[in-house]
Amino acid sequence: MHRNSSKEQKIYRHKFNRTSFKMRFILLLALPAVVLCQLSPQTTVPCGTPVVQPITKRIVGGREAAQGSWPWVVMIVATTNDHRFLIEGSGSILGTHVILTTAQHFEGSGFSVFDLDLRNWMLYLGNHHRNMRDPNQKVNHIKKVIIHPGYNVTSLKDDIALIITQEPIEYNDHTRPACLPDSSHHYHVGDICYLPGWGSTLTTGDDEVLNQVDMPILDDSVCAHQFRDFLSDTELCAGYETGIKEFCPSDLGSPLMCKDSNGIWYIQGLASSGVNCHIAKYPGVYEDLSMYSDWIKQTMIVSGYPYEY
Ligand SMILES: *[C@@H]1O[C@H](CO)[C@@H](O)[C@H](O)[C@H]1NC(C)=O
Repeated sequence: MHRNSSKEQKIYRHKFNRTSFKMRFILLLALPAVVLCQLSPQTTVPCGTPVVQPITKRIVGGREAAQGSWPWVVMIVATTNDHRFLIEGSGSILGTHVILTTAQHFEGSGFSVFDLDLRNWMLYLGNHHRNMRDPNQKVNHIKKVIIHPGYNVTSLKDDIALIITQEPIEYNDHTRPACLPDSSHHYHVGDICYLPGWGSTLTTGDDEVLNQVDMPILDDSVCAHQFRDFLSDTELCAGYETGIKEFCPSDLGSPLMCKDSNGIWYIQGLASSGVNCHIAKYPGVYEDLSMYSDWIKQTMIVSGYPYEY
């Protein structure tokens, strides 16, 4: 049998059945913004250093993240033409006006960033619950999206985008920037990294809260074997070969977080594609951020908000 012909094709965002928001979320949005706990903003905070430490005890299949332990993770919510809210995925704060995510939220086969009414999209900062208002939550909006010039909607090559936010992001204990790896930074097969996201335990856990799944870095050959268009130069392979846990649609763009020997958390990957989180028979494909940190930093300078770390 010719194995190649039975290789799975990566499934992209537009092929997923996106979960629409529950009605009560819409009702909550209509309520006036009550800030229960106003913290004094800090002007400079270090990157990759949460005040609440992430849980690093390994739980196969994922678990609820400690609230506030991934303070750079932003929930990206789209408004559809028929006025429904959809969780598009996650982004990561890189600067006071900059959020990193995947390009596929904004451009895919049949739609481009020009078709979307981004004024109605929302960025939830300091957020833990999907539907419930969190005391430290802030809502921000999109001013502009910069898609990597090499992005290919078919192969998902260069699936990277920067969101320039409308309002400045204020740092506090619940909202902080992430660290980027520099271009010389290398990960190792077997490193255990973590994927926080609002979809990552859709089948096993509580999908109302921010969850995290530990994802071991796998050898490129595992993904090259599973996916006919795995791009080993710029993508990395992580997760499980044998069906424990994969990421779900609402995790797209979520950061794959790895801890450096100095205790600082940095984003090594961006969740870009997989097959089916309910089957979870396959590893996930991530953009390898070491390969993109130069482009990200350069683009941040051009946009007027240079990376500060
Ligand atoms: C995009 O990727 C597809 C699939 O790999 C390829 O056939 C196509 O030539 C690529 N397009 C560009 C503009 O590189």
